[in-house]
Amino acid sequence: MTNSLDGRVAIVTGAGSLPGRGIGRGIVQSLCDKGASVLCADKDEATAEDTAAEMRKAGHSAKSFRADVTLKEDVAAMVEAAVGEFGRLDILCNHAGFGSFYALTETDDEHWDTMLTLNLSSAFWASRAAVPHMLKNDTGGVIINTISSAGMGGARAGIGYTAAKHGLVGLTRSIATTYATRGIRCIGVCPGYTRSPLPEGMKPQIQVSDSQDEAVQLLHQLADLSFRQGKPHELSEVIGFLATDTASFINGAILPVDGGWTAL
Ligand SMILES: NC(=O)c1ccc[n+]([C@@H]2O[C@H](COP(=O)([O-])OP(=O)(O)OC[C@H]3O[C@@H](n4cnc5c(N)ncnc54)[C@H](O)[C@@H]3O)[C@@H](O)[C@H]2O)c1
Repeated sequence: MTNSLDGRVAIVTGAGSLPGRGIGRGIVQSLCDKGASVLCADKDEATAEDTAAEMRKAGHSAKSFRADVTLKEDVAAMVEAAVGEFGRLDILCNHAGFGSFYALTETDDEHWDTMLTLNLSSAFWASRAAVPHMLKNDTGGVIINTISSAGMGGARAGIGYTAAKHGLVGLTRSIATTYATRGIRCIGVCPGYTRSPLPEGMKPQIQVSDSQDEAVQLLHQLADLSFRQGKPHELSEVIGFLATDTASFINGAILPVDGGWTAL
């Protein structure tokens, strides 16, 4: 068993996060450090290229690709771009996602659809496109879905986000059991509150009603007082490890990486 990903090809969605801060860029770094070639996909072309350029500067193999994962055709093009560029596909990290704190009665149909498309359908589309390529490999493949603590319980995150992340648990387990005998693993990683632009930027990005404000405050209290916030590399290094053959018997697992939050 080896931690090397030499010769392996990966896609990471949401790869354009800020240097040293986002989990997405950290996943790219971790995979590159192990020798993988990585397609860095993000809806923000400039930040995706920033990540890829940083990797190339360090001697790694990386290309950027602009893909909005809420668009089925972008997701299909992303998978074909990875295979076209690097000749194969071994690892798919469905990382891009975003949450909100809208409660049941504040959630309109549009917001509900957005949450499900961004956090669930995107991973379905990408996995469906990736698996046929992985089945061609002698070494199989691995799909790693970034879920959330909100995928493990009905905590007071927004209802659409919570429902979508619970759906992602089901998608993960179903892919894992379907392809276990054909060399493809599928794993879900559930970050707790992690210091990244997502939660810090969340409050200004949404219109905060009383119930949302209360939920955000509760989240901050839990993270600040009960448990410390995670650091992006504490998530991305775990995801990088799960992609290696050393983790070959980990399949269908839904792994909390939250400092103990969901053990409460
Ligand atoms: N940060 C947390 O506290 C936390 C907690 C639980 C789960 N998560 C999950 O982690 C993931 C995000 O990680 P992060 O918080 O480190 O963010 P991040 O810093 O890795 O950035 C997310 C990236 O996703 C990109 N993105 C957003 N929407 C996209 C789309 N439609 N198509 C393509 N790219 C898109 C953004 O441009 C950004 O570069 C999400 O799946 C989120 O649900 C985060």
